[in-house]
This record gives sequence, C-alpha cells and structure tokens, in this order.
Amino acid sequence: MLLVDVWREAGRHASLEETVERIARRLADEMPLQALLIRRLDAERLRLETVAAGAPGGAPPGRTRTELSKSQFHALVSWAHAREVLRSGPQGLAGVLAAGEARGEVLAGPLLDGEQVIGALVAVGPAFRPAHAELFAQVLDPVSSALRSDIQLHELTRLREAAEADNRALLSRLGRQEIADAIVGADGGLRAVVDRVAQVAGTDAPVLLLGETGTGKEVIAREIHRQSARARGPVVRVNCGAIPPGLIDSELFGHERGSFTGAVADRAGWFERADGGTLFLDEIGELPLEAQVRLLRVLQDGSFERVGGRTTHTVDVRIVTATHRDLHTMVQAGTFREDLWYRISVFPIRLPPLRERPADIPVLAAHFAWRAGQRLGGHPLAPTAADQERLIAYSWPGNVRELAAVIERAVILGNGHQLEIAAALGPAASSVAATTENRPGATEAAPPGEEFQTLDAAMARHIEAALEKVNGRIEGPSGAAALLGLNPHTLRARMRKLGIHWSRFRPA
Ligand SMILES: Nc1ncnc2c1ncn2[C@@H]1O[C@H](COP(=O)(O)OP(=O)(O)O)[C@@H](O)[C@H]1O
Ligand SMILES: [Mg+2]
Repeated sequence: MLLVDVWREAGRHASLEETVERIARRLADEMPLQALLIRRLDAERLRLETVAAGAPGGAPPGRTRTELSKSQFHALVSWAHAREVLRSGPQGLAGVLAAGEARGEVLAGPLLDGEQVIGALVAVGPAFRPAHAELFAQVLDPVSSALRSDIQLHELTRLREAAEADNRALLSRLGRQEIADAIVGADGGLRAVVDRVAQVAGTDAPVLLLGETGTGKEVIAREIHRQSARARGPVVRVNCGAIPPGLIDSELFGHERGSFTGAVADRAGWFERADGGTLFLDEIGELPLEAQVRLLRVLQDGSFERVGGRTTHTVDVRIVTATHRDLHTMVQAGTFREDLWYRISVFPIRLPPLRERPADIPVLAAHFAWRAGQRLGGHPLAPTAADQERLIAYSWPGNVRELAAVIERAVILGNGHQLEIAAALGPAASSVAATTENRPGATEAAPPGEEFQTLDAAMARHIEAALEKVNGRIEGPSGAAALLGLNPHTLRARMRKLGIHWSRFRPA
C-alpha cells in the first residue's frame, strides 16, 4: 500500500521537493520522522548535497553540502553497493549522511542508477525500530527513480540552455563527451552493430534494439541519437518496465490538472518532452496491452491527447525501442500486439552477449579500470595479464554491465590504488573460472577436483538459481527470500558474504 503510494508520488510530481515532502508525510504516519533528506552524490567533486528535504512537523532543513574525504567517499560507495539500510546513532557514516541534522537516530539508504551510486535517502528522528528500517527500504527504489529523472531533467535543461546561449560551446562539449563515452569494441565485437547504426542514424526510421540485459542497448540508443540530425534536440529514455501500469498513460502522454486524484498540476508526458529529439522506449516488452494501443496510434499519426485533456497534440519524435525479450514469441502468445511489432521492428539491431565476443572483454576491462581508478583513486588502473585471463574465463551472465560493476568493486576492494579482480569476481565466479581452467567442458554436476562442493559453493549456486527464477527480486511474496524461506536481511548478508550480486539477475 505504502509502496504504491510512493511510486505514484515519485511518478507524478515533476519537482523532487514536492515528492520528498509527500513521502515524508506518509512515512511520518508510520514512524517518528523529524526530517527526510534526499542527498545527491557528486562523485567528481566528492560532495554530498541535499537536493530536497521535507519535515512533516516543522521547517525543512537547509540545503547542506558535505565535502567528503576520499575515505568517506569510499566508505559511502561500498555501503551503497551493499544495498542495506543503515540504522544508527549520528556518528560515523550516519553522521556524514545526515549532514548534522540528527540528534537522535538516522535511517539511511542508497539511491542508485543501476550500479551507479547517485545519492542517499536519509531520515532523522528520535529513535527507529527495525520495522521502520524495513518500511524505509521500500521507498528507496521509487526515490532513486525520482532522483534519476531529476538529474536527467537538469542535464537536459542545462544542455538546452547552453545551446541557446552558445552553440559552439555546446558543440565542443558534445565533442568532449564523445571521447568520454566511446563505444568500446566498435572495431571488434560490435563492428556489425556500429555499421548498422551508421546506416540508420540519419533517417527517422524507428529502431528496435535486441539483446540481453547489460549488452549496451542504451549506449547504442544514445549513439543513434548522437549521429542523427536531431543530435541537438533532447534524448529521453523511458523505462517502460519501471512505470506502474496505471500511470503509463499519464507518464507517456501527460495529464491535465485535476484529471485524477493527485494530478495537482498539468504535466507534459515523455512524448512532449522528447519533441524534436529521440524518445528511447526501453524494455518495450513490459508495456501492458492497453498502453500498446495508445502507443501505436502515436506512431501512426504522431498525435495524442493528455489524460483528461481535449486538445490533440502533435510531436516530432524519433522512436528507438529496446527489449531483452523475444517479442516475436510474445506476439504469438498474444501479449504483444502484432501491428505495434511491425511498426517498431522496421530496423532491428541485435547486441551480441559478451560471451559471444570474448575479444572485447580485455578492452572493456581496461576501459573500466582506467575510468574507475581515475574516479575512485585519482589515477588510472590497468588489469594484469592474469586478471585478464580470469575475466575471460568467466561467463558474464550480466554482460558489460556486470563487467563494469566487477571492475568498480575490484577498485574499491583495492582502496582505489589496485585492482582486486579475483576478490571482486567472488567465489561463484572463481568456481566458474576454475571449471574452465582445470577441466575444459566440465559440467555443473561434476565440480572439478573434488567429490564434494563446499557448503558455501552449494549455497551460492542455490541462491543464484533462486535469484535467476525471480529476476533478481529479493523482497516480497515473489522474491528470492520468500522462495528460500529466509528473512531478506539474512539473504542479503549471505549474498554479500558469497559475493553474489542481485543486479546480475535483473532484466536491465
Ligand atoms: N560497448 C561499450 N563500451 C563502453 N561501455 C559500455 C559498452 N556497452 C555497455 N557499456 C556500459 O555497460 C553498462 C550497461 O550498458 P547498457 O547500455 O545500459 O545496457 P542494456 O541497456 O543493454 O542493459 C553501461 O554502464 C554502459 O555504459
Ligand atoms: Mg538498459
């Protein structure tokens, strides 16, 4: 109940401030909350900034900025990657997170964009119980999503304004970004993909990107935009799988004030926001059938109405879609509309999984190590030949995203100064590596070199199988914890110990 409300708040209000105020009021019904802060992490400047704050009872706290030392930054990033709610008195990391607001206790949870730490949600109050921490954990996903859109919107506005003020300055900025976001493997395993991109970018044809999670579909979607004539317009990504079904219409097409309870202001939908640019509909396979009908109509004649609105809007938008699912099978099963499939699949591009392009692994690893070393330790790092062999031996079910996460973890484990690749891969991966190293072709049923697997190894496999089954979900009735008959906290702790990361099992 609470969670649904929070998603609704997060999706509905353009302003982060309004979102945090409403969520604070709701949480205050359940726990002794004095203030709720959304703090954004600026990883480049090593800063934690309060970007929105709500206080249900009194005046909201000010916009504090905390400068972090390198070790505070490292502590924060590794805490965030553990995805655990922190409940403690206002000392140490909790004190840093609470920006000096706390007198009593602090609840804090990480805000993430995939593997990237974008900030923290912090609650302060006289005292919290474990049940409060559990409840607090539930609002982290929606708040992450609100912060992420807020960051994206600010970035778009910033780019737009820059374009108006000085075209040349913008162009040079894009030029620099091009170097930073180079597509690794363009001359290797992604050559065919890059060729297809070059063919289609200049047209307005819709593109469908197919590939497993973490293969680089979003990277390619942005590249198509960058190479198109619309490059100076907005590029807007919508994750169709992350919007609650009841809000999809209002998200995509916007709504007029008062059209439903909670529609407190007019809101432009993603189609309007992408006008003149590219709309990237990610995880299109998750779109419910009713929304598919509406989408088809926009694709056919470029027009739509806002929810509760009477005027018809027309927009000029190039559509790029992506999915990790087999849409063709979904069409046959009747869960994806055939007519919509024809529309969006005019120009499909398939992203090969990383295991099909092992030659890209060392180059990608070097790229991520260079970047993560620079960012976390102040200087670039490079994997050794032995590291590279280990990385190549692993099967990368989470593809490039997982590789980037492993390298980042390796840098953190090495305190920013060296790469702890073996440790970062964890026992699950090293058993995979050992299998291929010692006994090529050995199957899972016959672990190498020993009659018996250790209990830890067996447990790791079992947990992984459960995560696989539930797409990486941990909590809730259909989560892995319920499936395994464990408390979610216990499961998380065990996963941490065994080096298992849930995001590997998550579809994008
Ligand atoms: N070819 C590539 N070169 C550099 N980085 C890449 C490449 N492919 C993927 N990445 C990185 O890997 C992560 C996952 O890529 P993403 O495009 O989000 O995958 P998908 O959308 O297919 O799940 C991102 O951080 C992205 O920057
Ligand atoms: Mg994606």
